[in-house]
Amino acid sequence: MKKIILSKPLINITDTINITRNVLKNNFPNEGKQTKEFEKKICNFLKVKYAATTTSGTTAIFLALKACGVKNNDEVIIPNITFPATANAVAMAGAKPVLVDINQKNLLIDEKALLKKITKKTKFLIPVHVSGRGKNIKNIVNICRKKSIKIIEDAAEAFGSKYEKKFLGTFGEAGCFSFAPNKIITTGQGGVVVTNSKKIYLNLKRLKDQGRVGLTSGGEDSYRSKGYNFKFSNLQSSLGLSQLKNINWRMKKLNKIHEYYVKNIRQNSKFKIINFNFKKGELPLWTDVYCEKRNKLFNFLKAKNVICRYYWHPMNTCFPYKSSFQTLSNSKKIQKKMMWLPSSLDMSLKEQKKVCNLINLFLKNNN
Ligand SMILES: Cc1ncc(COP(=O)(O)O)c(C=O)c1O
Repeated sequence: MKKIILSKPLINITDTINITRNVLKNNFPNEGKQTKEFEKKICNFLKVKYAATTTSGTTAIFLALKACGVKNNDEVIIPNITFPATANAVAMAGAKPVLVDINQKNLLIDEKALLKKITKKTKFLIPVHVSGRGKNIKNIVNICRKKSIKIIEDAAEAFGSKYEKKFLGTFGEAGCFSFAPNKIITTGQGGVVVTNSKKIYLNLKRLKDQGRVGLTSGGEDSYRSKGYNFKFSNLQSSLGLSQLKNINWRMKKLNKIHEYYVKNIRQNSKFKIINFNFKKGELPLWTDVYCEKRNKLFNFLKAKNVICRYYWHPMNTCFPYKSSFQTLSNSKKIQKKMMWLPSSLDMSLKEQKKVCNLINLFLKNNN
């Protein structure tokens, strides 16, 4: 029996090969023409001025912090519920991740808890748009503006998601997206930083290429600062360009998958689907659920070839960032109770019916 999994890439092989053929004909697999085109298309789609591709969502966050001037030991606030990449990017940049509790209803950083964690050393805030949610972004922007805190959005899971007609990832100084295989479009690995600031963009371009500015001619180039090699490749861009062509279809499909779950699973106090605000433009990359008997449900589904995914451990329980739950009680309440349901772009109605029927059966027998 075919496995139904969380998410898998949807790649038009013929179309991708056609673009790749041009890359290979020009004998230039490195960052070049197709990457520029991919970045331009991203700017047009997200309605943002500049885009700098990079090797992953993780390096996108790291680069954005560096390009915005993060300094050693700056405090950078992040939500306690996120993928470790958020915290690791901060640590890599030499700064200190400060963990703030989340709001249980939307899994986003809790504004009240946030206010309590701001100190004189707080220089950045990284809101994480979990599964594509960004309901509180305007409040976050207001709080940060008053306190002169810069915002780098971790929009790794929110490509195409909006809040009130504006794309998530375009509210702060910079927005970071991931093109890892479980995202709405994938380039194998990869990411992008977007910004409306020319200064930040020029910093991004320089930093991702060894501190080099201007045309690349070889050893005699001008290297103006320290830097890294986070260049993207034209081969990766072939994948990205091909998938961007039907981004609207992809977005509609993800909405449909989530709506189907909401309509067809009988929720109760022990099993809840976390809301998305469709009217405001939020796009569900995956459907996340709260379930009191999560592990039992996970294993029940797994036995029937339905493979869900457990939520991340709260950051404060992970070895490098270990601390008590003292100011993180909401994170404690949801730990080991959350998971994602299969939300693959190619999921059929039959497969979704199967998942819903199984969950309804489990809930009936496990009340
Ligand atoms: C919330 C969040 N932040 C950052 C990342 C890191 O992205 P990448 O895996 O492309 O490095 C991910 C991952 O996939 C993510 O889900």
